[in-house]
Amino acid sequence: TRTPVNVTVTGAAGQIGYALLFRIASGQLLGADVPVRLRLLEIPQGLKAAEGTAMELDDCAFPLLRGIDITDDPNTAFDGANVALLVGARPRTKGMERGDLLEANGGIFKPQGKAINDHAADDVKVLVVGNPANTNALIAQAAAPDVPAERFTAMTRLDHNRALSQLAARTGVPVSEIRRLTIWGNHSATQYPDVFHAEIAGKNAAEVIDDQAWLADTFIPTVAKRGAAIIEARGASSAASAANAAIDHVHTWVNGTAEGDWTSMGIPSDGSYGVAEGLISSFPVTCKDGTYEIVQGLDVNEFSRTRIDASVKELEEEREAVRGLGLI
Ligand code: NAI
Repeated sequence: TRTPVNVTVTGAAGQIGYALLFRIASGQLLGADVPVRLRLLEIPQGLKAAEGTAMELDDCAFPLLRGIDITDDPNTAFDGANVALLVGARPRTKGMERGDLLEANGGIFKPQGKAINDHAADDVKVLVVGNPANTNALIAQAAAPDVPAERFTAMTRLDHNRALSQLAARTGVPVSEIRRLTIWGNHSATQYPDVFHAEIAGKNAAEVIDDQAWLADTFIPTVAKRGAAIIEARGASSAASAANAAIDHVHTWVNGTAEGDWTSMGIPSDGSYGVAEGLISSFPVTCKDGTYEIVQGLDVNEFSRTRIDASVKELEEEREAVRGLGLI
């Protein structure tokens, strides 16, 4: 029998945590034959609710679930972690400046990065979901110098999935026949969903759509502002779809992309496509055997260049701000 994989989830008592934990325990994160042990990290006020969720997890009698530990100590939570899902973050509250937000999140992601550095398993894979996800990932990574930098990733898979779904709705072609879509840049309103290399039922997506105005004025803003539209409609932020994207991100990273397709992940830049080295920015990536590679050699047209540059500029500003705060 296989040794269980240790999966640490922070913010376990939050709404994404509630949508995420049952899917991990059921085998959807890593595979139907991989036993898991869950480690839930919460702040002291969240521990009781996390215990309630753990009771429900027990009551599912998941065959793959080999144990649940609940703690408010990052050193315990990340001990032996093979997969770390950093979901808990400090939300922006009224009157909070960007610097305050980055500083508050630095207080969370810096110690968590250090705990990962000191206690996680050698093969640890980290996904940051908590916003601002790309820069929080950068903070955690900087605090973990002994962990290979490429193990720190940020989630843009929800944006990727939103874009797939918008294209499917527009063209009437099922999501399963849309490939090679890319989200570039930051997980923020400046992100750029790029269809110029995408294929819809085997044909170039931009040609199938054949409507530049729709791309610029409807598609891109709809994808970028979808989070706000969900809050407006649901009265709460996206949780099940965010949890689903986290499952997809890790599942693809571990199990690979389909032949001929790619996905979008926020990963440390190696300077590809003019994205400053070290920034955690979203790229088109292929995954195989638990590693990922940036898809190389794509032509970037004028329309795309402007938008990628704008999002990368925002990431550079965030990096400067956290540098100024001594967080990296
Ligand atoms: P929530 O507020 O329902 O839950 C957050 C949980 O994190 C709370 O239970 C809180 O007690 C916990 N927490 C706070 N600080 C912590 C710490 N230092 N250690 C451990 N736990 C801590 O929020 P929700 O809806 O679950 O969202 C979580 C994060 O995910 C937010 O930052 C949100 O903006 C982000 N998000 C990111 C998306 C993406 O596409 N990258 C999509 C949707 C949400």
